[in-house]
Amino acid sequence: MVIAVDGPAASGKGTIARALADHFGLPHLDTGKLYRAVALNLLRWGGDPDSEFAALRACEDIAGLVDDPDLRSEAVGGIASRISAYPAVRTALLERQQEFAGQPGGAVLDGRDIGTVIAPDATVKLFVTASSRVRAERRLAELTSHGLHAHLPDVLIDIRARDERDSHRSAAPLLRADDALLLDTSTLDRDAAIAEAIRLAEGRIV
Ligand code: CDP
Repeated sequence: MVIAVDGPAASGKGTIARALADHFGLPHLDTGKLYRAVALNLLRWGGDPDSEFAALRACEDIAGLVDDPDLRSEAVGGIASRISAYPAVRTALLERQQEFAGQPGGAVLDGRDIGTVIAPDATVKLFVTASSRVRAERRLAELTSHGLHAHLPDVLIDIRARDERDSHRSAAPLLRADDALLLDTSTLDRDAAIAEAIRLAEGRIV
């Protein structure tokens, strides 16, 4: 069984995907980490994020970076959002995501294009969203808990810029798949969002 969880930045999709993986006993892949690892690689090399070629080179040897603490920084997230618009980068990361989704027994993947491109035949597809204001507040709390400093208005601007780029790029834009169930977490706390995701997923499993 494959569960695809897509949605915009800080919508709660990562938390929900991890909880679904625990609930159903499935392995989980946060695909945003792959794009962030490419961005971090590029940043550390001093490569140009405006160059698709440089971004493609940065797709090599990212295995050691997927658990790097710098992955969560807003600088890395911003570059990840830019380099993820390049078709060459998306193609370079496609195979490992599809292999993960195709493992025996299934998997849970979260990202932007799981239900549309990576696993279009997923058993369960969730599109998790929340208002940009709520998402900015959550992202701020997350940054603060990691000891990083930020201000709400800046985080809100950043989230909106990211939404704009992720939704309007031509390569695999952030889109709700026709058969994805919508989960708006704006007024739900963590536990309520998880409970609702499990309820929706169980409703899709026959
Ligand atoms: O949690 P947040 O949305 O800030 O970031 P993330 O999920 O770690 O993803 C970082 C960036 O990678 C996003 O802004 C997307 O542009 C990109 N991404 C993507 O294009 N496709 C995916 N499957 C996952 C992430």
